[in-house]
Amino acid sequence: MTCPVSETIADIRARVARSRADGLSVALVPTMGALHAGHESLIRAARERCGFVVVSIFVNPTQFGPGEDYASYPRSPEADLEACARSGAAVAFMPQPAEMYDPPSLTVVSVPSLSGTLCGASRPGHFEGVCTVVAKLFNIVQPDQALFGAKDYQQATILRRMAGDLNFPLEVVVCPTVRETDGLAMSSRNRYLSGGQRAQAVALHESLLLAGRLAGQGERSAGRIAQAMREHLARRAPDGRIDYIQIVDPDSLADVDTVDRPVQVLLAVRLGRARLIDNMRVDAARPDR
Ligand code: PAJ
Repeated sequence: MTCPVSETIADIRARVARSRADGLSVALVPTMGALHAGHESLIRAARERCGFVVVSIFVNPTQFGPGEDYASYPRSPEADLEACARSGAAVAFMPQPAEMYDPPSLTVVSVPSLSGTLCGASRPGHFEGVCTVVAKLFNIVQPDQALFGAKDYQQATILRRMAGDLNFPLEVVVCPTVRETDGLAMSSRNRYLSGGQRAQAVALHESLLLAGRLAGQGERSAGRIAQAMREHLARRAPDGRIDYIQIVDPDSLADVDTVDRPVQVLLAVRLGRARLIDNMRVDAARPDR
């Protein structure tokens, strides 16, 4: 089972136009390929919402910094097309870089106040690359709905804001993080982990659960919660290097000192070649969300 492929902007536009003429609503699921069950859950959710689902598969060069893994980013087009077909995609949009960036984009889309912190602090330019390519995809496909994963919480927050600020006529839908059975958030980059690193990687999710437990027990100091997470990671993932652990307002992404309302707890940890991210909503009134 495989999925039809579209490689050009003209072709995907024509296919979308035909589907619209048939009365179908259109969903877009932007991805960089190396699809896993997390991506597939987005495609299935898209299919439940819309009659025609476009999955874009494009390893976007402009969101990788110098020295990051653009060249070695996992690429598995055949398996991806099978995953698209079995989860209900109508077409995979798989442009070559030149189709998207020749001529190169001189225009950059940016949401500066949400992009400088968290992952943006250690990946300068990353979210400008993400916003610009997603804005292009929105204009190319012109979907009614676009689906993103909560696993990339900052990305989803920024893209929802971008879509609203720029009046893109579509709904941004954010779907829950899909995890391995031991709690590790699924990610294309998990395949960079060795066996030993994979065992340690579960400590990210454990540390988020710990934050939820502490808040549920009445701990209100964001600093003390972050410190407890740090200690947990040091014990359970001794090879991990913490990039950040932050407790922020779920909308503004500004740091929170006192956990007296729902907050978002986010962390990034380097483990060998992989930089892993995860996050969780912590609501002291409802500690297990
Ligand atoms: P990529 O990492 O391939 O992710 C594509 C989409 O899948 C994103 O919305 C991401 O949040 C979602 N996703 C990844 N892992 C998930 C998981 N475990 N559970 C649920 N959803 C998950 O994110 C990107 O690509 C790119 O930045 C992109 C938006 C495509 C722009 O290039």
